[in-house]
Amino acid sequence: MSAILLAIMGWDPKNWDQLFRALSPQRDIRLWPEQARNPADITYACVWKPPHGMLAEHRNLKAVFSLGAGVDDILTDIELPNVPIVRVVDADLTMRMTEYVVLHVLKYHRQQRLYESQQRVRMWHEHEQAVASDVSVGVMGLGELGYASAIALQRLGFRVHGWSRTQKIIPGVETFYGAVGLEPFLRRAEILVCLLPSTPGTRGILNLDTFRRLKFNGAMHGAYLINAARGDLQVDADIIVALDEGTLAGATLDVFPVEPLPVTSPLWTHPKVTVTPHNAAQSSPRSIVSNILRQIDRFEVGVPLDHVVDRRRGY
Ligand code: NAP
Ligand code: GLV
Repeated sequence: MSAILLAIMGWDPKNWDQLFRALSPQRDIRLWPEQARNPADITYACVWKPPHGMLAEHRNLKAVFSLGAGVDDILTDIELPNVPIVRVVDADLTMRMTEYVVLHVLKYHRQQRLYESQQRVRMWHEHEQAVASDVSVGVMGLGELGYASAIALQRLGFRVHGWSRTQKIIPGVETFYGAVGLEPFLRRAEILVCLLPSTPGTRGILNLDTFRRLKFNGAMHGAYLINAARGDLQVDADIIVALDEGTLAGATLDVFPVEPLPVTSPLWTHPKVTVTPHNAAQSSPRSIVSNILRQIDRFEVGVPLDHVVDRRRGY
């Protein structure tokens, strides 16, 4: 007996369940917790924010597939079985994230919030517009999503630089890496885009000390933050202090330490903040499910899995 377990928290599991059944009718699919029985039957688990300790109950697991790109909710399970963890790398997801980053960089660059506020009071007034090649955008994380976003911004003419853990060479993008590269990277960034994974080395990195190092006297006349990675990378209280003291001129936040963002959070109504509900790169379930099923089919005939997470690195 070999069954696939779907354990999905925080998203509606129905569509995923239907897709797995439709695309692989011959397989035994079990939706957790309703259809959880005989844990020994389960050989693959496809998960999003699974309750910690739950995977350890399945002693015949051969692999765990994350339904998202980030795997922090899986890797922080101290009882996680010692099997490969596979994450999502998907062209559709990468494109959606690139769109989100470009949209919000342009929103700041083209002063869109200002023009919207003028429209509300019927004010016809043009402002000086910086040329993109004078605007520095710093992308933290140059993996699947950061790399694609950096290239798209560079093609739009922005001055793009990036920061990663290990050295990268990307034509047209100035790159920095490691702890020593952080300071010069931040000093150049007028618009800081965060696409880092959440790991012990990155959590809390978007704090007041970081914001105060950004370039606030460049073509944008201020520094801006776009975090579309994970909420625990940012310190919400520091973002508010930075906005109120003028260290940050604006922030776009797709992710938060607590999600959904509590209705009492001052971020909801802050005039310099754009909040989106963790949908920067809402994945296409069909594309992800097809990919997982293809990987399982190949794995069962001995082909190695793609996009296996390095558990020591944490991403
Ligand atoms: P990835 O391919 O694993 O890339 C991660 C990048 O971060 C790599 O360039 C890596 O450096 C760098 N990095 C990791 N730790 C670092 C450190 N301590 N210092 C400096 N750089 C570090 O990940 P991805 O697919 O681009 O996804 C990034 C994150 O986006 C995910 O982990 C997830 O949390 C988030 N995400 C959010 C959404 C959303 O809708 N909001 C959707 C999808 C993903 P190296 O290149 O040197 O390894
Ligand atoms: C979404 O946040 C993902 O990690 O895919």
